[in-house]
Amino acid sequence: MFISLEGSEGCGKTSQVGRLAEYLRRRGYDVLTIREPGGTAIGEQIRNILLNPENVDMDQRTEILLFQASRAQLVEQVIRPYLANGGVVICDRYADSTLAYQGFGYQRELEAIKALIQFATGGLKPDLTLLLDVDVEVGLARRARGGQKNRLDVLDVSFYQRVRQGYLQMAQAEPERWVVIDAGKPANDVQQEIRRVVSARLSAAAG
Ligand code: TYD
Repeated sequence: MFISLEGSEGCGKTSQVGRLAEYLRRRGYDVLTIREPGGTAIGEQIRNILLNPENVDMDQRTEILLFQASRAQLVEQVIRPYLANGGVVICDRYADSTLAYQGFGYQRELEAIKALIQFATGGLKPDLTLLLDVDVEVGLARRARGGQKNRLDVLDVSFYQRVRQGYLQMAQAEPERWVVIDAGKPANDVQQEIRRVVSARLSAAAG
């Protein structure tokens, strides 16, 4: 089973991914967690280019293509083989991040981006996508308490409003894949909800 977690800044995705993986491993599943962009040696090099604050003059199209380059490598080298062996792959961001950030955030052509995603992934989509939805101001305030800023962290509030609305729109358009989780709640409650949703999907897939 292929699961992705999505959400805008400060939604707490990364720690929730770790706790979900731990829980599923205790229940006997083979679990692989990956982070996008990155997750392979080549992908981590691309990640450094994408996030390096010195790359101020990166064109938006260059950015879109680099995300797909990292993803293509990840899909072929890591995700497909792991799924083929019956494992559970949990992705901290996947293709929907490109649609939310570069598509809705930058207000660029969605259909062209979808075609690039199709090419990069060979059409591989998650079975389940969890959207950790949080109010933009709350999320940005949480992030401000966190670590260092990268090149993509310098965008304004209206950008993140569009990202959030984009995610909600995608979730509504494909309700069989997406589950929206209120990430404004305490982290433990969010984790319980995630476990409930994922357990139900895994039981349904098994039975
Ligand atoms: P990261 O430090 O991993 O942030 P986060 O904890 O929010 O996931 O940086 C990833 C950044 O890259 C994040 O700002 C979202 C952005 N991103 C895109 O803009 N498009 C994409 O396709 C992906 C995968 C990430």
